[in-house]
Amino acid sequence: MTRSAQHSTADSGSGAPLGAGDDAERRLRDRIVALGASLFARGFSVGSAGNISARSGDGVLMTPTNASLGRLDPERLSLLGPDYGRLSGDLPSKEVVLHRAVYEARPDARAVVHLHSPYATALSCLAQESEQAMPALTPYHVMRLGSRVPVIRYGRPGSDELFAEVRDAMRSGPAALLGNHGSLVAGASLEDAVNAAEELEASAQLAFVLHGRAPRSLTPDEVSELERMRIR
Ligand code: 13P
Repeated sequence: MTRSAQHSTADSGSGAPLGAGDDAERRLRDRIVALGASLFARGFSVGSAGNISARSGDGVLMTPTNASLGRLDPERLSLLGPDYGRLSGDLPSKEVVLHRAVYEARPDARAVVHLHSPYATALSCLAQESEQAMPALTPYHVMRLGSRVPVIRYGRPGSDELFAEVRDAMRSGPAALLGNHGSLVAGASLEDAVNAAEELEASAQLAFVLHGRAPRSLTPDEVSELERMRIR
């Protein structure tokens, strides 16, 4: 499918320099770099896989394409305008369309994290669409991810063909598995999005550890109570 104008990421080059006094943006850059390094150090991403974005003013700061989350440079993060066109920094992640779909689905989201973390990616290779691939067995699964994590069909990295499906899936909750690809989560802050990505990976690991066993499920009442304790 060709890239539609709606999904395009018009590139205006590396014009508009960062406002010198923009302390909030500078802190956000540093936090993206620190959390990226933390995820990388613990094996949540390898090579140059994975990407992070966070709302900054009326735009978005995003990790550059082909950049290792372990070795990000705060000055080289991509700054995108409200139309997701590049204002400054390196070329953004090829997954800008995925991130945009999440922000459109979830106006309260302040950050989006996409990882190829090992267990989530393994589960995304086994899971079928519409399946409850990841049982909600623990309180923090429900509190961070909701009781149902949808599985979105496979799409080529960087393709815009899944835009509408991702947007629709993410309207019902902050997390999804991308078929044969990994995880996608949103958070009300950068830290919340990273915490949710870590929780999703832990839940995927539990699904493998418990495979073939008979874990106790949370009861509907317990799930309802935890839904009211959701960390958004
Ligand atoms: P980028 O290097 O363009 O961010 O892509 C990495 C990735 O995770 C693709 O799904």
